[in-house]
Amino acid sequence: MPPPKLVTAIRTYEELDGAQGREVFFRPQRYRAQDVLPLRAFVRLRVDLAIHECAVHDVSQNGVAFEWPQAVPLEAGRNVERLEVCFDDHVAYHGDARVGSVRGQEGAPIAGVSFTGPLLDIDVVLHLRDIKAWQGRDGLGLTLSRKAWAVEGHEKFKMLVSELALYLQDSELQLGELEKSLAWHVVQGESQSAAREALLDRLRSEFVIDVVRYSDAINAALEGVPPAHVKNLREYTRRLLHDFIMQAPWMQRAYFKPFGYPGDYEVMRFIYERDFEGATLFGKAVGYAFLQTKAALAVKFRKDLIKRELRARLEAHRGIERPLRILSVASGPAQELYELLRELPGEVPPLEIMLFDQDKGALSYAYRRLKPMVEERFKGDVQILYLHDSIKRLLRDSDLFSGFGHFDAIYSCGLFDYLQTTTAVVLARNLYARLAPGGTLSVGNMAPENPSRWFMEHHLDWVLIHRTRAQLTEIGRRGAPDSHLRIIEEESGVNPFIVMTRQ
Ligand SMILES: C[S@@+](CC[C@H](N)C(=O)[O-])C[C@H]1O[C@@H](n2cnc3c(N)ncnc32)[C@H](O)[C@@H]1O
Repeated sequence: MPPPKLVTAIRTYEELDGAQGREVFFRPQRYRAQDVLPLRAFVRLRVDLAIHECAVHDVSQNGVAFEWPQAVPLEAGRNVERLEVCFDDHVAYHGDARVGSVRGQEGAPIAGVSFTGPLLDIDVVLHLRDIKAWQGRDGLGLTLSRKAWAVEGHEKFKMLVSELALYLQDSELQLGELEKSLAWHVVQGESQSAAREALLDRLRSEFVIDVVRYSDAINAALEGVPPAHVKNLREYTRRLLHDFIMQAPWMQRAYFKPFGYPGDYEVMRFIYERDFEGATLFGKAVGYAFLQTKAALAVKFRKDLIKRELRARLEAHRGIERPLRILSVASGPAQELYELLRELPGEVPPLEIMLFDQDKGALSYAYRRLKPMVEERFKGDVQILYLHDSIKRLLRDSDLFSGFGHFDAIYSCGLFDYLQTTTAVVLARNLYARLAPGGTLSVGNMAPENPSRWFMEHHLDWVLIHRTRAQLTEIGRRGAPDSHLRIIEEESGVNPFIVMTRQ
């Protein structure tokens, strides 16, 4: 049921209308039985010693039309004594009446009678109807148990969410005051400064610690909650925390998904490089704090891990004439490659890199940053190919990459967490087939102990398929049965990689 309109459109006196045509001659309005629902409208008719309850057809202040009992004789002009017009248990009219008209309606005759006693107070009937029909803007009335957030138990979760809401409410006020007392550039300016560092230090040692502690504890309190209750608890936390969380631009983007999928390259950029963004100091602080929870840290650490692995390969490749060949699958902003190339001193062995992503915007962003750097520092030594395609095609066509030869390192972060296991295995198989001897395929996946799960799922609608190390290893075993398998870890410990090495 759509929520009732709460606001009436207001017009000036000059805009107000009366009726049109013959309607200008006022007659008491007739209401059909369905106009007064959920009230049950009926006429109680006493004939001899019998009492008949008859369905109302329509009713007005001065008369009622109703289904006349077939067993009782009916003719126009007949007087009816002690007739009652009832709406549920409210008797709106009690008195005599006279039959003015008789018409047939699907078998039962309809008698139109005029009241000869006092008029029926139709306003009272309409008030009764409005009160009984009212369900409020959520359509759920006032019954607690019908509220979307209401569920028995789970006190720890509710206590933590409520406390965090109070804490964020206080912090919004306090940080709002602090922001007003500071120079604009300290909070909003692009450049770093001692004052900005001091501000971040203050946030890190107080606000961030508490938000992360609450976030982890709320996640832990969700453990073992029956699936049937999760929806209600999600409503609970949404009601209390969502407006605070949405003040952080990275979380707002993760939630709204303007590109139609979660974790686009703009969200990744917030995580990698733009961690203190927001319209207010409070919005910045909230975003910054949630970026210190484990899943966000894991994204940064896994990028560093891949960077280290690539760097080691690169160093080991020095002196070899043929190029080292690297493929990043679902490359996004290619932050690890950007940083790796930026940090490389002078000379590099020949390098061929392929970036593969379904998002043209992500490729374009990577191109914008990598091309000038390669042109300036590694011209002729580093080649980068940008492939705008989907793994959907790679799953159907295992030869998609065959024209591009074999690779020494293939890796994928932030992709397999969205793939069903059978898809993950086929993709691993098709990628593994593109490895040169000694080459490695590294596939990352968030692990079930990810403590950022509650806010990702409850507030950002960002649902991952978490996998244990055993499940990740199983994908490697099925996708690359003849490979050497090992698990490697980034520092947060919640985003392991399975590395499949071609013997
Ligand atoms: C969470 S981001 C990870 C990006 C990058 N690997 C990183 O860790 O920074 C996921 C990326 O997967 C890409 N992606 C999602 N589905 C894809 C598909 N079917 N084929 C190719 N790329 C895909 C998205 O465009 C996005 O850039």
